Amino acid sequence: MAHVTRRIGLSLGADLCWPACYEGILRALKPTFAVGPDTISIECERVSIEPYDLRKPTRYDVVLDRVTHWYPTSREWVKKAILLDDVYVLNNPWSIQSMEKQTTYCAMMRLGMPIPDTWMVPPKEYAHEGLPDLQTTLDRYARLFDLGKVGAALGYPMFMKPYDGGAWKGVSRIADEEALKTAYEQSGRLVMHLQKSVEPYEHFVRCVGVGPQVKYIRYDPSAPLHDRYEMTRDFIPEADQQVLRDTTLTINTFFGWDFNSCEALLKDGVWYPIDFANACPDSQVTSLHYHFPWLVAAKLRWSLFCAVTKRPMRKTLDWDPYLRAAEQTEGKPLRERLAAYAAIARERLDVAGFEAFCEKHLPHLDEVVWTFFGSQTAKDAIRAKVTALFPAHEIDEFTELFWSRVQLWREHDAEARAAQARGKSSKAAGAPPATKSASKGGKAR
Ligand SMILES: Nc1ncnc2c1ncn2[C@@H]1O[C@H](COP(=O)(O)OP(=O)(O)OP(=O)(O)O)[C@@H](O)[C@H]1O
Ligand SMILES: [Mg+2]
Repeated sequence: MAHVTRRIGLSLGADLCWPACYEGILRALKPTFAVGPDTISIECERVSIEPYDLRKPTRYDVVLDRVTHWYPTSREWVKKAILLDDVYVLNNPWSIQSMEKQTTYCAMMRLGMPIPDTWMVPPKEYAHEGLPDLQTTLDRYARLFDLGKVGAALGYPMFMKPYDGGAWKGVSRIADEEALKTAYEQSGRLVMHLQKSVEPYEHFVRCVGVGPQVKYIRYDPSAPLHDRYEMTRDFIPEADQQVLRDTTLTINTFFGWDFNSCEALLKDGVWYPIDFANACPDSQVTSLHYHFPWLVAAKLRWSLFCAVTKRPMRKTLDWDPYLRAAEQTEGKPLRERLAAYAAIARERLDVAGFEAFCEKHLPHLDEVVWTFFGSQTAKDAIRAKVTALFPAHEIDEFTELFWSRVQLWREHDAEARAAQARGKSSKAAGAPPATKSASKGGKAR
């Protein structure tokens, strides 16, 4: 019998609140895992940035990375750690680096998902510095085009947004040809998509996926940042949850993103995915508030599972099984096609192994998370993030606001777990269960 230590590294940027809570819960959990003849304990560290020999082995078994999409030093370290040291990293860095919105739209169009019609248009202006062949190329091949015709082909209203966008940079809703021309004039060097607007919609949902765990959050893009994620519960029936779950798991496994968020709009009974290249999703308490404890717990479950079981990292994406499933289900209803893709996703995510792991090794995690989010350490983490983002005179007010929403989550979580326990005991006694799980991959919350 051996004592083994598995190390989880947190590769962080401006993140303050979730790492502090993740570490705080790990301290309280003091997890040790009896696996075969071994006892496995967990250590968690923040990854530092420093020179390294490419051949020097990495300390970590799992890395939760938050900077790959903009910080090359860490991104290249992450790639080295995967290739040379078999580290499991959330998320696949090659995929983050190369998959823009455009590729994700194309891939999911190929799988038959109802991505709104989308055009790409060449940019209005170019940066010529360092590109000596640019002018010649444009002179020879860039065709003059009639933007009005593109607008007419797509139809109004539409959204203009960068093909590689993020954080709402350069996004505008366009009602008519005149507005399209004005927006294009102002778009500068951005390479833009024009996308048919899905409106009016009945629901805007952000589906946050962490491994096989999916959380559906109603989203109001018109609200101020701290109110965009709504606290509405049980707003969509199980059949819609299934569509969103299968969509999210398909997208996430297709691109090797264990942690990603997929935005979808419901209109006339159809869920339109509109933005799902978000492989470093918002994790801050200042936007997630009520939903923040779920995210921290989900990250803990999945990273512990990956570390303890030494889950192998899928280094290449291997799209062929999805494309084969697309061929085999051609002409069938979307629901059926999604189920075929999601079956591949579930296998890739080892859903059965993960659920068994949580049941055997982490039955007390929910209770520890619940207790932690009532602690001063949790409140300090919230305050630290608020202090970093809000003006001094708003720090107290917003700390209290987010704290009160986290406490509301604790109330609801306690209720849900009590109902679940009642359901289990009445099921054991032969009666039908009292409640239904809100999210099959995760916990009812
Ligand atoms: N096709 C569409 N139909 C309706 N609304 C849309 C559409 N495309 C974009 N929007 C609106 O514009 C917002 C920003 O678009 P999108 O999410 O694609 O950009 P982003 O820069 O990636 O945003 P974020 O980083 O917040 O996810 C969406 O949240 C939504 O409100
Ligand atoms: Mg978006």
